[in-house]
This record gives sequence, C-alpha cells and structure tokens, in this order.
Amino acid sequence: MHSVPSAKPQTDIQAFLDRHWQRPLASQGEAPAAFTAQEASLAPAACGQCHARQFEDWQTTLHARAMGPGLLGQLQEMDPGAVDDHQACLRCHAPLAEQEADLQRTLAGSEADSTRPDGAAFGHGLTCAGCHLRQHRRFGPARRDGSGPAIGDVLPHDGWQVTEAFADARFCAACHQFDPDGYSLNGKLLENTYEEWRASRYGRENKTCQSCHMPDRRHLWRGIHDPEMVRSGLGIEFPIPTIMGDRVTARVALINHGIGHAFPTYVTPQVIVEIGQAARDGTLLPATVERHLIARDVSLDLSEERSDTRILPDEVRRYDYNRPRLPGATALVARVRVEPDAFYAEFYRATLRDADFTKGQEAILAALRDAERSGYVLYESRQALSVTARPDADLPGR
Ligand code: HEC
Ligand code: HEC
Ligand code: HEC
Ligand code: HEC
Ligand code: HEC
Repeated sequence: MHSVPSAKPQTDIQAFLDRHWQRPLASQGEAPAAFTAQEASLAPAACGQCHARQFEDWQTTLHARAMGPGLLGQLQEMDPGAVDDHQACLRCHAPLAEQEADLQRTLAGSEADSTRPDGAAFGHGLTCAGCHLRQHRRFGPARRDGSGPAIGDVLPHDGWQVTEAFADARFCAACHQFDPDGYSLNGKLLENTYEEWRASRYGRENKTCQSCHMPDRRHLWRGIHDPEMVRSGLGIEFPIPTIMGDRVTARVALINHGIGHAFPTYVTPQVIVEIGQAARDGTLLPATVERHLIARDVSLDLSEERSDTRILPDEVRRYDYNRPRLPGATALVARVRVEPDAFYAEFYRATLRDADFTKGQEAILAALRDAERSGYVLYESRQALSVTARPDADLPGR
C-alpha cells in the first residue's frame, strides 16, 4: 500500500484520450519499486484477485477473446519481426507493448509458452491494463459517489488518476471508429460506429456507448453475438396476415428503438428476414419464401459495397408479403436469422483455398468452425392461415 501522489482530476477529455490511445502504446516500464508482484502484474487474473466482479464479467466478453484463432492464423503468416504489420491489428486487438513483445517471441518460436514475468500475454486480447494502465499508473472513473482518492490516502497500486474520459463515448471510438482519412467505401468509413451514434438521438442526448454496453459500469460489452442484447434494442412486429381470395398478404416490421447506431453497425454480420408459408408439419414451402438481407454487404476484397440495408436508429423497416396461397399451406411464418460472423466465414473459406497460406492454416480452420457456429434464430413466429376466413363470395370486389 502506498500513498496517492496526486488527486487532480483530468479535465480536457480529448487531449487525455489522444495521449491515452497514442499507438503503438509505450511500454509500461519498470513498476514502482514499492509495488508488490501482484500490483506490478499486467495479467487480468492479477487485477481480478481484487477486482473480482470486473474480471468475471470481462472473461465472458469478446474483448477477452480479441486474440481469437481468426486473428492468430493471420499473424502466424507474418514475419516475427514485422512490428508494423502486427501493430496494424494489435493496436485494437491486444494493444499493450508487452503483448507485442510476447507475440514476437512466440512467432519466432523462442518460447515454449507465452507466460511472461510481467503477466502480459498477447493471447489475453484486450485486457484491463490495455484500457486502464499507462506506465503502471491506473486511470479510471471517479467512485460512484463522485469522489476520488485524496492526497495521503493509502491504496493499492498508488490509487488511480480520476478522469471523466472513461464515461465518454470517445473512449470507445479509439477502436470502434476509423479516423476520417481511414478506408471508406461508397463515401462511408468501413468502421463508423461512433459517427453513427453521434448522428443519432443517442448522440444528441449523450446517451453513451457505456450506458448500453456497460450498464451499471459492468464490463459486459454484449453485441451482435448475444440474442438478448439484440432483442433489447430491436422490436419486431408481425400482425395477423390477411387472406384475400387466394392471396396471402402480410407485413413484418423491424424497429430499431434501442440500438445507438446502425443495426448492425459493422460490415461483418448478416441479418436475414424470411417470410413464407408453412405446411401442416411446419416445413416452409420453398416457392413461397421471400428473403430480405439486412447488412452492409461488401465484397470479400473490400473493393465494393454491394448494398447497405442496415436499419438506422429509430428507423422502422417494413417488408410486405403478397403471394398466392399455396394449397396445403396452414401458416405464415416470419423468421429473423443472425449470422454475426458471415463475412469472416467467407473470408476464412477463401483463405483456406490459398495455397501460399500455410503456417496459420490450423488456426483459420478453427476460426471457420467458430464462425459457422455463431449464427442463431433471433425471432420466429407463425400465424395460422385459418379456414375461418369468410367465404370468397363475401369479399369486397367479388
Ligand atoms: C491488491 C489489490 C488490487 C490489485 C491487484 C489491483 N487493484 Fe485496482 N484497486 C484496488 C483498490 C483497493 C482500489 C481503490 C478502490 C476505492 O478506493 O474505491 C482500486 C482502484 C482501481 C481503479 C479505480 C476504480 C474506480 O472507482 O474508478 C481501477 C481502474 C483499478 N483499480 C484497476 C486495476 C487494474 C487494471 C489492475 C490490474 C492491472 C488492478 N486494479 C489491480 C485494489 C487492487
Ligand atoms: C475496453 C476497455 C476496458 C477494459 C478492457 C476494462 N475496463 Fe474497467 N472500465 C472501463 C470503463 C470505460 C469504465 C467506466 C465505465 C463507466 O463509467 O460507465 C471502467 C470502470 C472500471 C472500474 C470502476 C468500476 C466501478 O464500479 O466503479 C474498475 C474497478 C475497473 N474498470 C477495473 C477493470 C478490470 C479489473 C478489468 C479487467 C478484468 C477492466 N476494468 C477491463 C473500461 C475497460
Ligand atoms: C483497444 C481497442 C478497443 C477499445 C478501446 C474498445 N473496444 Fe470494443 N472491441 C474491440 C475489438 C478488437 C473487438 C472484437 C473482438 C473480437 O471479436 O475479436 C471488440 C468488440 C466489442 C463488442 C462486441 C461486438 C460483437 O460482435 O458482439 C462490443 C459491444 C464492444 N466492443 C463495445 C465497446 C465499448 C462500448 C467500448 C468503450 C467502453 C469499447 N468496445 C472499447 C476493441 C476495442
Ligand atoms: C480499429 C480497430 C481494429 C483494427 C486496427 C483491427 N481490428 Fe479486427 N476487429 C475489430 C473489431 C471492433 C472487431 C469486432 C467487430 C466485428 O466482428 O466485425 C474485429 C474483429 C476481427 C475478427 C473476427 C473476430 C475474431 O477475433 O476472430 C478478425 C479475424 C479480425 N478482427 C482480424 C483483424 C486483423 C487480421 C487485423 C489487422 C490486419 C485487424 N483485425 C485490425 C477492430 C479492429
Ligand atoms: C442505446 C443503446 C446503445 C448505444 C448508445 C450503443 N449501442 Fe452498440 N449495440 C447496442 C445493441 C442493442 C446492439 C446489438 C444489435 C447490433 O448488433 O446492432 C449493439 C451492438 C454493438 C456492436 C456489435 C457489432 C455490430 O455489428 O452491431 C458494437 C461493436 C457496438 N454496439 C459498439 C458500440 C459503440 C462503440 C457505441 C458508442 C459509440 C455504441 N455501441 C452505442 C446498443 C447500443
């Protein structure tokens, strides 16, 4: 335990964030001599011995798995010393300088395992230290009562520097928004989440990324991979279909009422809406099925945007259905499927066909299996096409 050196809160948020996310990050350097090994460790599990709640939550997230096999396979194809190439990915996926060092040694095969004395492993992905530590100083929000450490307080790791930046949406923009001069297609940056948010009601009301993705400060970061999270922001309406003579008419409406950016925000997921007639045994009759894609659909080489049918904040999307009723059809079914990793699955398949790609093959194969398994049915509802409809003779226009 050591006394807190300074209690002055950071005020200029943008200046703080520019420094904090200046990449490649500088190495943490030597920990203060008075730190215990536990305080000096960069391993998430070390933080977790005192911050159990955050550690438990973090472990369940994609931030903790940001160094998945899909990324690893691509890094394995790179030269062990190609720092700039590594950093093009690690700057977001595993940003600590100590993780870069660990990656280099592992790629060079000079270390049997990736356990380092400082506890930093590239395999840990986006860690506590990646967001909270610079030169072994902790940065974080004020306590919930608004207070911070006072000069002379005795706290582990010399307390922390209070900054409002952690509650600001720009904190997340460091990795979830390309710079204005970054890669864009059809006049839109390839990663544009912060700007989508800023242009929305949520941006105007300053309802931050954290308010939805870290409710009550919890380290949850749920997104498109989590059906409950998607349901929390997306309404789906499917009223009773109308049967007019031999035709079935219906409408499915999707409402983005609680997603603070486009649904989905990235080019990588695909959402597919299916409306079709089903036989008594529940199977969809193929000739009656209509499919609609909700995605920012780009070509594999990212040279072309084929379509952008994402649903913007507060937008209502309606799909009308009007087709002859097939004999034997007893219900109309509406189904919404989500493929969170559709783009990656296609990319991995293409990579595996590339004969020059060798060292990373095994990892990419594992990544393909993961990507193919992440899909789920978000919504499914059936409305009976009941025979209680009035006789045809009574219908208007007959
Ligand atoms: C030996 C126990 C211990 C270890 C290990 C530890 N911390 Fe802490 N940490 C504390 C205590 C105690 C506080 C002060 C809480 C208070 O006074 O409100 C604190 C405060 C913090 C805060 C500020 C919390 C706030 O309210 O804003 C952050 C951020 C933080 N620690 C991050 C980390 C990270 C990241 C690690 C690992 C790299 C870590 N800590 C390791 C005990 C520990
Ligand atoms: C992606 C960046 C990121 C990562 C990774 C991360 N945090 Fe945080 N942490 C934040 C942000 C942002 C806040 C403030 C949230 C807010 O104010 O709504 C925060 C808040 C905290 C707090 C204060 C919590 C409270 O209830 O007052 C602690 C303690 C903390 N983090 C520790 C950790 C530990 C330990 C880990 C790793 C297990 C970790 N963080 C990983 C971004 C991160
Ligand atoms: C240092 C870079 C970095 C920062 C800062 C960061 N993220 Fe992330 N985030 C990532 C990466 C990389 C992934 C993807 C991990 C993977 O799947 O490999 C990710 C994934 C996510 C996901 C899950 C997406 C999905 O497909 O389900 C959410 C949600 C998310 N981040 C929200 C946030 C929020 C909110 C903040 C700010 C508090 C934040 N992130 C800060 C790098 C970052
Ligand atoms: C600006 C931050 C950023 C940079 C730089 C970045 N990524 Fe990502 N990456 C993300 C985010 C955010 C996600 C999650 C969103 C998604 O699923 O599309 C992601 C997801 C992925 C995924 C799918 C999830 C997984 O972990 O398997 C792969 C593979 C990937 N990135 C590879 C790379 C590679 C290779 C590079 C370097 C050439 C790179 N990324 C550079 C932010 C970044
Ligand atoms: C009003 C609540 C809300 C706000 C504000 C919000 N999000 Fe989301 N976010 C969601 C919901 C709900 C989902 C799941 C649906 C989806 O994937 O679009 C999501 C999904 C995501 C995903 C998953 C990837 C994808 O393609 O959709 C990422 C990454 C993400 N949010 C980052 C952010 C960042 C960064 C901010 C701030 C700039 C932010 N979010 C603001 C609710 C919100």
